Amino acid sequence: MTHYRARIIGSGSYLPERRLHNDELAGRLDTSDEWIFSRTGIRERRIAAADQFTSDLATAAARQALAAASVAPDQIDLILVATSTPDLIFPATATQVQYKLGCHRGRAPAFDLQAVCTGFIYALSVAEKFIQSGSCRHALVIGAETFSRAVDWTDRTTCILFGDGAGAVVLRAEPITAAHHHPPGILSTHLHADGSYIDLLKGSGGYSQRAMPVLGLDQETNVAGVQMRGNEVFKQAVKALDEIVDETLVANQLTRTDVDWLVPHQANIRIIQSTAKRLGMEMDRVVVTVDRHGNTSAASVPLALDEAVRDGRIQPGHLVLMEAFGSGFTWGSALVRW
Ligand code: ACO
Repeated sequence: MTHYRARIIGSGSYLPERRLHNDELAGRLDTSDEWIFSRTGIRERRIAAADQFTSDLATAAARQALAAASVAPDQIDLILVATSTPDLIFPATATQVQYKLGCHRGRAPAFDLQAVCTGFIYALSVAEKFIQSGSCRHALVIGAETFSRAVDWTDRTTCILFGDGAGAVVLRAEPITAAHHHPPGILSTHLHADGSYIDLLKGSGGYSQRAMPVLGLDQETNVAGVQMRGNEVFKQAVKALDEIVDETLVANQLTRTDVDWLVPHQANIRIIQSTAKRLGMEMDRVVVTVDRHGNTSAASVPLALDEAVRDGRIQPGHLVLMEAFGSGFTWGSALVRW
């Protein structure tokens, strides 16, 4: 029986044109470039145009990834979109990406996956399982967000953090043979969740918590925007990411010095620096985009990955550690040999 490993054979990304600098926010809110940059590392973020939806950003990133992989849209037999800001609550944004790519006639499965900032790592892991089981040859995995539509732009504690964008990868099933000692591909993925922290970080907009005054069910649970107790989230993020880095290294019988590149979720430069320190890594081996992208949630890891692949930092044979932490809480990692 043939066993398969999932290999990333192409990546792509898309950022909306509109840049929103901290100075512009400071003109509208009681904040400053100095406060935002020193606390988060963010200088600017991108904002989707009024007629751009998450599926548009996702499709643009997917097209780039397909081109990089030399794979035609109709060769894709699984589409996963990790997002917490879908076009609509249903249908899944992934089905709209499939349609916009023009490969709907192939009827390959397409669905969304919601693990907030850890969404891309979760989706990568799910796609890997499809490939390992032999039920899929080419998978398109996308992280795409329009968080600018989710935040409350009058709340300085959260709106300064987020941005819009999309990143994508194409995975290919490669038969595992004894011939190659260090074959490229996903070595392992590690996923965790703890739902007891919901009140530290949550968004709004679900159907189920909507008030229904007509039937006398007018609960007030569905408050607008993103609600976050940033300080407490920060501490939990650092702890969980330290643990997942250790878990990933132990699972692969590797040491900290074996990792060539850290591609972290881009929420806060201080969280990223803390994980790098845990790994004993200098910051020049860490891919950082938070200064220019802000927190693009599920899009942040594939956006950073694509940047480092395109500018030549990540080279064949390199060991790349991706990790993320987000609302839920959810957290996870993926170790990949490029
Ligand atoms: N401008 C100026 N002052 C501000 C701003 C602002 N934009 N926002 C908050 N402040 C004030 C606060 O009101 C507070 O004032 P006070 O001391 O008078 O009460 C003070 O600054 C300090 O606020 P803190 O919240 O303690 O600031 P902190 O240093 O913790 O930074 C931040 C806040 C950037 C949000 C940080 O806590 C953080 O990055 N947390 C983690 C975020 C994260 O990783 N989230 C997970 C992923 S997101 C997702 O899953 C959707």
